Amino acid sequence: MHSYTKITSEHIEYFKRICEERVFSDEEKLQEYSRDETEDLSFPPEVVIKPKTVEEISKILAYCNENTLCLTPAGARTGLSGGALPIHGGVLLSMEAFNKILEIDEKNHQVITEPGVITQVLQDAVKEKGLFYPPDPASKGSCFIGGNISENSGGPKAVKYGVTKDYVLNLEVVLADGSIIWTGANVLKNATGYNLTQLIVGSEGTLGVVTKIVLKLIPHPIHDLLMLVPFFDAQQACEAVAAIFQAGITPSGLEFMERDALLYTQKFTGDSSLDIAENHQAHLLIEVDGFDPDKLMQECEQIIAVLERFETDEILFADSEAQKNTLWSLRRKAGEAVKAQSIYKEEDTVVPRYNLPKLLHHVKRIGKNYGFESVCYGHAGDGNLHINILKGDLSDEKWNNELPLAIRELFVKVVELGGTLSGEHGIGLVQKSYMDIAFPEVTLNLMRGIKNIFDPKGILNPGKIF
Ligand code: LAC
Ligand code: ZN
Repeated sequence: MHSYTKITSEHIEYFKRICEERVFSDEEKLQEYSRDETEDLSFPPEVVIKPKTVEEISKILAYCNENTLCLTPAGARTGLSGGALPIHGGVLLSMEAFNKILEIDEKNHQVITEPGVITQVLQDAVKEKGLFYPPDPASKGSCFIGGNISENSGGPKAVKYGVTKDYVLNLEVVLADGSIIWTGANVLKNATGYNLTQLIVGSEGTLGVVTKIVLKLIPHPIHDLLMLVPFFDAQQACEAVAAIFQAGITPSGLEFMERDALLYTQKFTGDSSLDIAENHQAHLLIEVDGFDPDKLMQECEQIIAVLERFETDEILFADSEAQKNTLWSLRRKAGEAVKAQSIYKEEDTVVPRYNLPKLLHHVKRIGKNYGFESVCYGHAGDGNLHINILKGDLSDEKWNNELPLAIRELFVKVVELGGTLSGEHGIGLVQKSYMDIAFPEVTLNLMRGIKNIFDPKGILNPGKIF
């Protein structure tokens, strides 16, 4: 355990000499930056700093390291595992001012960007050039690309196109002592030494502060088809997922929504254009995309042939861009909708996709044993199930003392099924007490050793992952 020096007015004066008016210590700002989107958690920092240049960050980090001040980097604070919560106070380093796309390199299909660019803004900018940056977390309209790197975010498109890590070629990073490094090179292949780029991806701000990002792009597909398939049985919906891939099709989205997830989302958005019958227990939202419309039609026919083996109701084909947007919006808003419903805890489990039906079975079984209600939805094609456990009118006693036991039991099952704790939300604060289920001590010690080399005084985002 490291201990940290409390921030004094002298420290704040120093930060103001570097970042001038972009240093905040008023109560309102401290409260604002005390939260991300994780549950109802709040940990106020002692000071918020919004640097504008890599040199400023380098000076801030060198000073914090020298004076043992802890520092938590934060993007748009849309994370769901508490990665951006300054749980030991100290400095909250907001990357909001790093909001420029520096270069779209059309000749090489790459983009160089600062980390504070909103993911969707980046996607739209490259799309104008016919290029595609696929990773699309549900929060893409507000999250930052830098946060996506920190958490190795995914989203619906990951099933065909991969997650954030699959697009990161090179990173500029400021280390704990203030050194500025590049982790790799702007190339598609790289067998030169250890892969520091991928080590930084998903490291949740514990190893350094990312200040520039080089991403790979691909040609943007020009057609897509979207269908919504109602199932009378949620288990069968999960079984259909692997069957679709086994038929040789890779959809560009294959999302699962349990009945309640859709009902809550309809209530939350006020959009009840979709008719959910009494006996619709779950839906699959299936998208295919590409360049040849005939081929996409064929793929849909193949998918329908697979679905005939299951008990489904009438399939809805989105017949306009507006309807596609409505369906995607219902899916993307599921998280917010559940949050609006009740205090909740979210688990971001992932298993090999064929084991998805078993995972769902165990979620419901464990929930029943402990008396917890869960609402599940997520990226079924990736075997990535977001399990939302609702507090509803459960006692604090049960919530605080019994729920962690239920979650532990669930994670043990997930690992038995060949899966792991988080597919795309990270470990951050709220999952760290379960890391022993995913890794033996020898592996955890390797990770701790890496942390210690990068950050011997433990000043960077303390209290996360381990
Ligand atoms: C989603 C977020 C919660 O898939 O990952 O909606
Ligand atoms: Zn998700």
